[in-house]
Amino acid sequence: MDLNHEQKAAVEDFTHNLLILAASGSGKTRVITEKVIHAIREKGYAGSEILAITFTRKAATEMQERLRTGLDEKERRGLTAQTFHAYAAHVLRTYGWHIGLPQGWKIADGLISPVLHWQIIKNRSWEILGELIETEGGTLPALEALAIQNYLHKGKD
Ligand SMILES: Nc1ncnc2c1ncn2[C@@H]1O[C@H](COP(=O)(O)OP(=O)(O)OP(=O)(O)O)[C@@H](O)[C@H]1O
Ligand SMILES: [Mg+2]
Repeated sequence: MDLNHEQKAAVEDFTHNLLILAASGSGKTRVITEKVIHAIREKGYAGSEILAITFTRKAATEMQERLRTGLDEKERRGLTAQTFHAYAAHVLRTYGWHIGLPQGWKIADGLISPVLHWQIIKNRSWEILGELIETEGGTLPALEALAIQNYLHKGKD
């Protein structure tokens, strides 16, 4: 696929760290993917020197598919292209024992997550809960925190 002028400039520039700001759907993920291919094909980087991470599974899958078709097996060796979450899970599985994580730990998601949150905070004071709720982007998503607060109120009543 062709890249437009700005995309091409971003893909080929290895003299700076780049921060690319562009509208949604305008081709940022495509730039990252093509830059990985360019880094390996034209600049002599090894796949194992590159970490390409993105937020959504959809974007990660797109990157992986394009890298699979754009690079041969040898060029792709050691290359990481994943979501933040998958990569973080990989790091924790590999190195988590350094910080005392038990083997076989699991990621809490879906329904279990608010229950665990509640178990964690039930022994803490209301002030801490208030802080958690007020902290923007803080430890607890606001909706879950509110659900927990509701639950505790009911219990108290
Ligand atoms: N220069 C281009 N010419 C044609 N199609 C392109 C070009 N650049 C990107 N695209 C296509 O446009 C679509 C959106 O691109 P991409 O996913 O890279 O955008 P994005 O900026 O990362 O989007 P989002 O904000 O949703 O993350 C994709 O299907 C991609 O293949
Ligand atoms: Mg994107």
